Amino acid sequence: MHNDIEKILITEDEIAAKCAELGEQLTKEYDGKFPLAVGVLKGAMPFMSDVLRHIHTHLEMDFMDVSSYGGKMRSSGEVKIVKDLDTKVEGRDLLIVEDIIDSGLTLSYLVDLFKYRKANSIKIVTMLDKPSGRTSYIKADMIGFEVPNEFVVGYGLDYEERYRNLPYIGVLKPEIYGGEET
Ligand code: XMP
Ligand code: MG
Repeated sequence: MHNDIEKILITEDEIAAKCAELGEQLTKEYDGKFPLAVGVLKGAMPFMSDVLRHIHTHLEMDFMDVSSYGGKMRSSGEVKIVKDLDTKVEGRDLLIVEDIIDSGLTLSYLVDLFKYRKANSIKIVTMLDKPSGRTSYIKADMIGFEVPNEFVVGYGLDYEERYRNLPYIGVLKPEIYGGEET
């Protein structure tokens, strides 16, 4: 375990098993279709890479980078497009791939945007769900794991751009983030 981590919440093996399970469900869901998987950068990158390798239909991938975080750990309340999709959304079956749903702000913005762009269907798969943080109404179609109201890092999730490369999901020692509440 990394020195800055207080405890591991979800192990590498648990993540791998969950990605296979979600991939199997998504294979059924999109059987005979050609969905557009939209990864939300940067956090969703490891999860997207793992889960998509378990989807056995044709699919297309694209990425979006949005920021809703003004500060280090708290939402600024504003969503800004940093990088837009290269692919046309109209008429497509979209699968949004996210790392975590906390306030729900990022995803409700994206869902509205893709509805406006006339997607044929929109589904959300998220690795983590933190339902206690919700301020915007949003519900994922598929969830890997539910997490408590703690700031989590690893497997894509960062604190000040670090820890994204950890193979598990854990909680930082409070001294690392100066005890700031999440
Ligand atoms: P919202 O609040 O819009 O949040 O649902 C979505 C984005 O906020 C980030 N986020 C976190 N990042 N640990 C992190 O490293 C967390 O506990 C956490 N909670 C929210 C994340 O980028 C997510 O896509
Ligand atoms: Mg994110």
